[in-house]
Amino acid sequence: MILKDKNIVLGITGGIAAYKALELTRLLVKKGANVYPVMTKSAAEFIAPLSFQTLSGNPVYTELFDISKDASIRHIDIAEKADIIIIAPATANVIGKVANGIADDLLTTIIMASKCPKLFAPAMNVNMYENPIVQKNISRLKRVGYFFVGPDEGELACGYEGKGRLAPLEDIIYAAEECLSPKDMKGEKVLVTAGPTREPIDPVRFISNSSSGKMGYAIAKAAKRRGAEVVLVSGPSYLKPPSCITFVSVATADEMSDAAMRHYPQSTVVIMAAAVSDYKPMISHRKKVKKDEAKLAIEIERTGDILQEMGNQKRRQFLVGFALETDDIIVNAKKKLKTKNLDLVVANSTEGFSSDVNQVAIIHSTGEVAELPKLSKDEVAERILDVIVKEIGK
Ligand code: CTP
Repeated sequence: MILKDKNIVLGITGGIAAYKALELTRLLVKKGANVYPVMTKSAAEFIAPLSFQTLSGNPVYTELFDISKDASIRHIDIAEKADIIIIAPATANVIGKVANGIADDLLTTIIMASKCPKLFAPAMNVNMYENPIVQKNISRLKRVGYFFVGPDEGELACGYEGKGRLAPLEDIIYAAEECLSPKDMKGEKVLVTAGPTREPIDPVRFISNSSSGKMGYAIAKAAKRRGAEVVLVSGPSYLKPPSCITFVSVATADEMSDAAMRHYPQSTVVIMAAAVSDYKPMISHRKKVKKDEAKLAIEIERTGDILQEMGNQKRRQFLVGFALETDDIIVNAKKKLKTKNLDLVVANSTEGFSSDVNQVAIIHSTGEVAELPKLSKDEVAERILDVIVKEIGK
């Protein structure tokens, strides 16, 4: 999507994490990007350029590259066609050079000659990372608009434990997408709910559903990427909370209601992607229920409808609901749009419930229906936000 057909210069510098840049190349290519690897001389000591060439399908430029022989302005060409330059792993050395205006090899020359966004993913020994000179160089680059992702904490190749590990590849990709995203949701305060809720029967058993949370998380991440301030209220999910958003973890429908209603008044856009349980046991036993010969009936009662409550209290919020249906999808979704006082409803069948893809129809309050093809949940999230941005007139 965002990275599709983008020209990415991937700068690889000389650290042990250079091997991870191979997988990064593969993932970027999978996203449809044209990756142009540029390796420093020391990076080529760690990994053979041929590996990058094979994975990217492009020639690998190294510092050994002879500018004078091949094409005298090749570095300017690459610098000009790049949509983004990602330096991963970025050593203290490359950070120091760029921060101080030194362009003494192909990579630093390209960085210096390019006007596109530059994203550094540092990886180094913790003491190096914490060195005040390195920190000063990073601050200096940030001040002039260079982007950074990571490093993470953890076990380092040098045997130390601490901050210095290359950020997870998915975080680097997300940061690159964020650099290239239009910021058309800037100023919006977006509240998203995601995942299932769990209604306890006793300390070890509960009523729930198989929602994974993927759709809501994809929406929260996409809104953040597009410049919004995001609050994500999530029921139990194995997904990693997205960084740089307000994340509220809840279990029951009542807890989700409390958290969502607390953030509701100050929100401008609300997207209820959670699969909230409609029922909860009337009694939640404090101790584990022991088995018996007799039948066991669990009495259940309704939970509050959070979205209905939001619709009733709606002021300036743009309110988006989801409708999960097995039959008469559009008709039923339209009913929910009306009764819950929504501005938009996203109708989906149970097929996409815990999958990575989803096929949805977006229904406007005017009754207009846009049926989308089967898409990844990340793409569906972008499409939903495209419609919202248009509707709120940004
Ligand atoms: N929803 C909610 N609170 C509930 C139940 C649902 O806020 N207690 C929200 C969901 O997050 C979703 C929308 O209402 O955005 C529709 O949910 P869905 O499960 O499709 O429908 P229900 O309203 O629960 O109706 P039914 O189960 O009868 O189809």
